Amino acid sequence: MLDYKNPNLILETSEVEPGSFTWRSPSNLAIIKYWGKHGVQLPKNPSLSLTLSSSFTDTLLEYKPKESGDRNISLEFTFHQEPNEPFREKVVKFLESVTDIFPFLRQLDLTVRTGNSFPHSSGIASSASAMSALALCLCSLEHELFETLEDDDEFDKKSSYVARLGSGSACRSIFPVASLWGQTGEVEGSSDLFGLPMAEEVHDIFKDFHDDIMIASTAAKSVSSRAGHSLMDSNPFAESRYADAKRKLHFLLEAMKKGDLETFGRIAENEALTLHGLMMSSNPSYILLKPNTLEMIERVRRYREETKHPIYFSLDAGPNLHVLYPGEIIHEVRVFVDEELKPLCEEETYLQDWVGEGPVQV
Ligand code: PMV
Repeated sequence: MLDYKNPNLILETSEVEPGSFTWRSPSNLAIIKYWGKHGVQLPKNPSLSLTLSSSFTDTLLEYKPKESGDRNISLEFTFHQEPNEPFREKVVKFLESVTDIFPFLRQLDLTVRTGNSFPHSSGIASSASAMSALALCLCSLEHELFETLEDDDEFDKKSSYVARLGSGSACRSIFPVASLWGQTGEVEGSSDLFGLPMAEEVHDIFKDFHDDIMIASTAAKSVSSRAGHSLMDSNPFAESRYADAKRKLHFLLEAMKKGDLETFGRIAENEALTLHGLMMSSNPSYILLKPNTLEMIERVRRYREETKHPIYFSLDAGPNLHVLYPGEIIHEVRVFVDEELKPLCEEETYLQDWVGEGPVQV
């Protein structure tokens, strides 16, 4: 099994010059959902996502050699220019957890300055963009110090592996357009340990594809994703759900290759409602959807029926509706979104996002 533990990545600190890296990394939207895990962030079924664009995290990592021989992680941290102790502690815990992979982290004084492009508590999962941005910074740092990750594919693979350790879905944010995570006979080279780039496997229609995120509610979720994953262990439908996800992946890959939007949309909507069905059938059961989410779903379906436009929805682990459609119908769809969906959103707020090119070093 692939293992990135490397005790040789130890610095001669007297030779290290201070430096920094900044990565901008996007969030992603799963079409086949990852829901249920085992071991260290290993998925119970393969998932496939679209890489987003305007919902991203910027992360700056600064480093300088430690003057003391202290072996603890030394981290100064700000989130949106403010110190944030709970967040800092999470990052320290994550960095501690990857010191077998990056042992040199113990030899440096680190500073992380991070922030999201999307409003706090807008319901966009920030863990995917945040953990992928941090993983990319760590791999850039390794390469700067040891010249170990010259090959771009190797760099991406390791970044994806490390991002996964922070948050499973983050491993898919490393790649442009679309990414697959999880071992499946459908795709050669697929793995539970890291995501794969899928841009070449999907039709061009997905390269100009929109995701308008309708903010149904910004209230804190009653059950976190972490708790939701673990409730899958006792969900009576778990095994059939994992089998169903694998079966749907086959049809989704075929549809995305061909540009068959109808099949794509049917699977996207089914997966979104299945995810929430699993929450409702967990023990204890819970509901994250809001009445306005359901009203928006009905309106999307009615509009599609009436206009025959290929517009579909998806949901993340929250009440906000992701409205998906190809760029060629943006003008018509935005009229519908503004007139029919926006008034149902909290403070009439929605975010405009689209399929993007993946992370960039800035
Ligand atoms: O990566 P996590 O542990 O935040 O889980 C993400 C789960 C979903 O967003 C609901 C689905 C997915 O595949 O992204």
